[in-house]
Amino acid sequence: MTEINKNDLSWDEWDELQTPPPAVTDFDKVVESALSRRGFLGGILAMGSAAAAMGSLSGVGALMSSTSAEASTSRFAFKPITIATDSTIHVPEGYTWDVLAKWGDPLFSSAAPFSDETGGDAASADKIFGENTDGMELFVIGNRQVIAVNHEYVNPEINLPKNDKGTPASAEDVMKLQNLQGVTVMEVAEGENGWGIVVDSPFNRRITHLTPMKISGPAAGSDLLKTEADPTGTQSLGTFNNCGAGKTPWGTYLTCEENFNGYFGTTDAAFKLPDDYKRYGISAETRYAYEKFDPRFDVAKNPNEPRRAGYVVEIDPSDASSTPVKRTALGRIKHENAAVVIARDGRVVVYMGDDERGEFLYKYVSNDVYVPGGDTSKLLDEGMLYVARFSDEGIGEWLALTPETTGMKADEIAVFTRQAASKVGATTMDRPEWVAVNPVAIEAYCCLTNNTRRGEVKDGKMRTNAGGDEMTVNAVNPREKNGYGQIVRWYPANNDHADAAFKWDLFAMAGNPVVHKDSAYAGSQNINDGNMFNSPDGMMFDTTGLVWIQTDGEDSNEGDFAGQGNNQMLAGDPVTGRIERFLTGPKGSEVTGLTWSADKRTMFVGIQHPDAPFPEGEGKLPRSAIIAVKRQDNALVG
Ligand code: FEO
Ligand code: CA
Ligand code: CA
Repeated sequence: MTEINKNDLSWDEWDELQTPPPAVTDFDKVVESALSRRGFLGGILAMGSAAAAMGSLSGVGALMSSTSAEASTSRFAFKPITIATDSTIHVPEGYTWDVLAKWGDPLFSSAAPFSDETGGDAASADKIFGENTDGMELFVIGNRQVIAVNHEYVNPEINLPKNDKGTPASAEDVMKLQNLQGVTVMEVAEGENGWGIVVDSPFNRRITHLTPMKISGPAAGSDLLKTEADPTGTQSLGTFNNCGAGKTPWGTYLTCEENFNGYFGTTDAAFKLPDDYKRYGISAETRYAYEKFDPRFDVAKNPNEPRRAGYVVEIDPSDASSTPVKRTALGRIKHENAAVVIARDGRVVVYMGDDERGEFLYKYVSNDVYVPGGDTSKLLDEGMLYVARFSDEGIGEWLALTPETTGMKADEIAVFTRQAASKVGATTMDRPEWVAVNPVAIEAYCCLTNNTRRGEVKDGKMRTNAGGDEMTVNAVNPREKNGYGQIVRWYPANNDHADAAFKWDLFAMAGNPVVHKDSAYAGSQNINDGNMFNSPDGMMFDTTGLVWIQTDGEDSNEGDFAGQGNNQMLAGDPVTGRIERFLTGPKGSEVTGLTWSADKRTMFVGIQHPDAPFPEGEGKLPRSAIIAVKRQDNALVG
């Protein structure tokens, strides 16, 4: 048997190894319980167990069939492209792409030049564009354009190419990896040769696993967060596994700590892991061996340290000397992104997904209203956290997490948020990834990327999340062993994102209508052989109200995924349900992160963990990158 090198796995694959799913995902077994694809989403009204398993019938009416979608006027300004399986980017005819920034590019002239032999100078790791680009936002500050962008994790075999299997062998190696992750804030500008980083701009900054942060909100000062180095429980070092992002109306960047668990561990075999670790997947084993060279990450020495990660962190991109703030009021989960919208009365609403099988979808509502130019320092500290319950009838409610509803203290709710949400009966979801809010309609969307354990019975018991909540098939998560994913959409009651009630439907169920002709695994009717994809993940609206969908899925182009090619970016029309493919990424990569230039004539797209030879060619290390996509006629792209 081939030995698995854990440094070679994506973060999610590594997480799977900790609690292995079944070896075989047998889609055919569920066909008998599924309605025909023709019936699905076509307005059928038959009720019964099969119908219940297929999705909310009241919730799917808003989707038009592909036929009626085609009959309506297309809002897409591009000619859709076919799948790709090669090692470069493809965009529609009339569009161009170029690299804006790639791992190793200097933010400061003091950084050593990149080396394919060493994966870059360790001492320069915090002076360069980091590894594994992810969520990002562009800020216009005066007449400057500044991008804040996440660096989710590292690929040690590539970042430490001289080490055996990329395994860190010294404190210097560990510090290099710590500095390649976190966030970059960088000024960008468009010149004669296209877009590039403004080297040495006063806005340029790296925020890493070592950067001092302030902790605010209900858990600040809690005994749960105190450590020997920080007996006050109000200051921590670093932000971890920065996945998706968000932007506040007051001009700050929200970076979201996702799979933080993987950095904390111990070599002390006698150490008994605290009970709360299990829910978050914190185990003795880690990917990067931080705990061997940096005692802060050894949980036997610092059991509270992992409780200081898993938050939304607010960063002021206009001030490179500002201290980032961990906002514990938004809960401690594996935060995907943070979609901010202002409610009818001016309160701040933040939607957030917790990306793990069977975990939940959350919403935060501030106590006070946002006043432009007013004090915004407490808006993300003082408010209510809610978790979603979806009913099978196409309605749902946001359940408040309070001491009364959970039996937990305020600081415990902020630190053990998953446990709090389980107590109020939230709906287990198929891995909530990005939430996106439509700027031209009162509705929001969440990518539920996949859940191969949904509905699976093992040893006579329904599979559960790590908290014991069953992952039974339900209307919003309608398929057993869901390898394709779906996108849920909700409409807040009273057209108010702060309202506790909502209606919902499925905007799309990804699938493969060629491989699975007459089952739910064909996908919804707006999925066809020309636009199919799997594992929707990143998602952003443009200013015109088109929703852009990015994938992080299986790119084998075989079996259940035949005809789906490399990961990709598609555009969806919320009104017609029509979805078309706009971009394909290079082999091995995930397409994640999207923002626009101030004039909306450039779209910036993140390409994470590509295989070689992207983008530098044969014999060079693969390097994650942000690309700039434009129209040749320089027309608007969003
Ligand atoms: Fe970092 Fe759930 O993606
Ligand atoms: Ca993601
Ligand atoms: Ca993903």
